[in-house]
Amino acid sequence: MAMQKPAARPTNPRFSSGPCAKIPTFDLANLSDAPLGRSHRAAVGKAKLKAAIEETRDILGIPADYKIGIVPASDTGAVEMALWSLLGARKATMCAWESFGAGWVTDVVKQLKIDAEVKTADYGEIVDMAAVDYDTDVVFTWNGTTSGVRMPNGDAIPADREGLTICDATSAAFAQDLPWDKLDVTTFSWQKVLGGEAAHGMLILSPRAVERLESYTPAWPLPKIFRLTKGGKLIDGIFEGATINTPSMLAVEDYLVALDWARSVGGLKGLIARADANARAIFDFCDANDWIADLAEDAATRSNTSVCLKFTDDRITDGAAFAKAVAKRLEAEGVALDVGAYRDAPAGLRIWCGGTVETADIEAMLPWLAWAYEETLAAQTEAA
Ligand SMILES: Cc1ncc(COP(=O)(O)O)c(C=O)c1O
Repeated sequence: MAMQKPAARPTNPRFSSGPCAKIPTFDLANLSDAPLGRSHRAAVGKAKLKAAIEETRDILGIPADYKIGIVPASDTGAVEMALWSLLGARKATMCAWESFGAGWVTDVVKQLKIDAEVKTADYGEIVDMAAVDYDTDVVFTWNGTTSGVRMPNGDAIPADREGLTICDATSAAFAQDLPWDKLDVTTFSWQKVLGGEAAHGMLILSPRAVERLESYTPAWPLPKIFRLTKGGKLIDGIFEGATINTPSMLAVEDYLVALDWARSVGGLKGLIARADANARAIFDFCDANDWIADLAEDAATRSNTSVCLKFTDDRITDGAAFAKAVAKRLEAEGVALDVGAYRDAPAGLRIWCGGTVETADIEAMLPWLAWAYEETLAAQTEAA
């Protein structure tokens, strides 16, 4: 017998882990102040780009002596720009606990062919960051978007390190506290926690990272799109809004609107509280149901943005097919879009909990998850 469908539906069923849900107040009309059809180098464009940088600094609490640049190609662009520009001066340590971190390992080991120690952990686990040699350059992903495992804090990173720390924080920035004094390079994309557009990446450099850029020239050629220095000096303009190439002023406007909204919900503190409340609703659901669990093994490393779930019912005969079928049912009902686990991750679901998602929508979606689980189990039994 079919299980009764829940009565209520989420108002917004968008739980994708990127691009993530737009801000709750989103309306295309809010972008009408974008200087479209104007040069990004005109005063109006430059002012918007500079505002995007300074508002980011203000909301995230980034120190005044750190450089913040808007760069091409979203988070990938920002990370690769850092890897290609900074690595090779000393040994590297590559830390990965899911697919994006693994992608940076490939870049460094197979493409750049840098002498690197590779430390990996299985999905659900994390590398022991206290056992890393911080006199090497250390590359890691703060929040593993495809495993739902995050750094609990930066305590393992010593203040007196010789190497640089290069941190892909794309699914952490605006949802988790980032210890700026422990991070020399930090990257993120607008498309993640603030639900912006994917065109551009943010590259944040500590004074030590700038020092490296100005004192070290990699042995390999750098395309124009990656070049951060000229004649051995940092190109300051990049960090004041004079972007390397043409940005989308529509995407910039969208980001500025999202930053305004972020401020209206209490800035970083408010955003963290929203993500925590969303994730908490799912953790409570997992605690109340023995057929589903968080992929993160240790509660201290559980993500509050990309919450990854696995089905733990031994009656399930084909885990991958089961998870796909659940996600398909939820999508067909229009109650949860894009919640299948990432293609390289273990079978399961991934539900985005960043601050643009409303807790009421998570709460309205969860009974549907229980419904889809029961229906899929019944269908499996029927097919057997
Ligand atoms: C941890 C991490 N790194 C990098 C990326 C790639 O980001 P983008 O597509 O914005 O370049 C993603 C996208 O989901 C991610 O989650």
